[in-house]
Amino acid sequence: MKALVLAGGSGTRLRPFSYSMPKQLIPIANEPVLAYVLRAVRELGVTEVGLIVGTRRPEIEAALGDGSRYGVRLTYLPQDAPRGLAHTVSIARDFLADDDFVMYLGDNMLPDGVVDIAREFTARRPAAQVVVQKVADPRSFGVAELGPDGEVLRLVEKPREPHSDMALIGVYFFTAAIHEAVDAIRPSARGELEITDAIQWLVSSGAEVRASQYDGYWKDTGNVEDVLACNRHLLDGLSSRVDGEVDQESVLVGEVRIERGARVVRSRVEGPVIIGSDTIVVDSQIGPYTSIGRGCVVTDSRLEESIALDEASITGVRGLRGSLIGRAATVGISDQGTDHFRLVVGDHARVEVAA
Ligand code: DAU
Repeated sequence: MKALVLAGGSGTRLRPFSYSMPKQLIPIANEPVLAYVLRAVRELGVTEVGLIVGTRRPEIEAALGDGSRYGVRLTYLPQDAPRGLAHTVSIARDFLADDDFVMYLGDNMLPDGVVDIAREFTARRPAAQVVVQKVADPRSFGVAELGPDGEVLRLVEKPREPHSDMALIGVYFFTAAIHEAVDAIRPSARGELEITDAIQWLVSSGAEVRASQYDGYWKDTGNVEDVLACNRHLLDGLSSRVDGEVDQESVLVGEVRIERGARVVRSRVEGPVIIGSDTIVVDSQIGPYTSIGRGCVVTDSRLEESIALDEASITGVRGLRGSLIGRAATVGISDQGTDHFRLVVGDHARVEVAA
């Protein structure tokens, strides 16, 4: 089996972060989403991975290289524009040849893995096997209507009036039968070649299409709330390790990871928390559920349930919660007196102040 991992697309829902980095590199517990994806693929015994990349290829290639760090061999497959998930399958046609493959959306996190579902697929080899989970609001997902034995009866992409609450989640297993389906479909109303339509084409032409219900944790990290929720979930599994320096006046409580070169001075860190390499935390209170990237400076501040990306600087701010602070961003105290504050906020940024 091969893998096709999708890391193109535009990332509009993750603005402004997706202006400066592809959304698939957003760090969760200080590791890019794509690192988790590649490990999950490797866990299936798959080593040949085609990686769909768009205009952000240079950053993705700089982060992942040839994939050997994750035990896989990456073949970069450029896509000129986000023309749809099924379009990526046609781009990968030569790479995939007639092999079975797993298609994995590069912004989806399934930290509990999909080994059992891969086994089901390999044992039975339906034309397609999708993975589904019940969601409260299916309208922003592909939706599957299922028969009593896990067979797929109908699939619709982002229906306005869903007939099922089973959302397609970011992993699909295919035999080579999918290629004929991809060639047969036309772009949807939003102008994309939808994989949902290609799988529906298989259903309509009588091919076996099955669904496995996924009980594990799943998040599409396409927006800020879901990134923060996923960070909290992964930090729950953290174990302590201190490779940096913690002074005598600091207190660490619970599971805390302090990476090499980081320094914690006169601060309280309440885990689960990760503090990235070469970051300095002084006179501050951090955590719980907080990931701070590399080379950050946090002084005289209080930060909980948040993520700070590399080289962020936070000074004198005591009430940050549920925040995602961008790369090299600066958050500090205003010099405009007590009645005013000053903002230098980039496009599509979001600022919420105390009422
Ligand atoms: O998260 C699950 C959902 O993912 C499914 O329920 C939907 O059926 C499926 O269409 C997809 O919907 P999204 O709107 O979330 O897809 P998104 O545009 O975010 O693309 C998913 C990944 O694929 C993302 O890493 C970007 C990448 N991609 C996307 C497109 C459209 C590409 O590499 N090329 C593309 O042309």
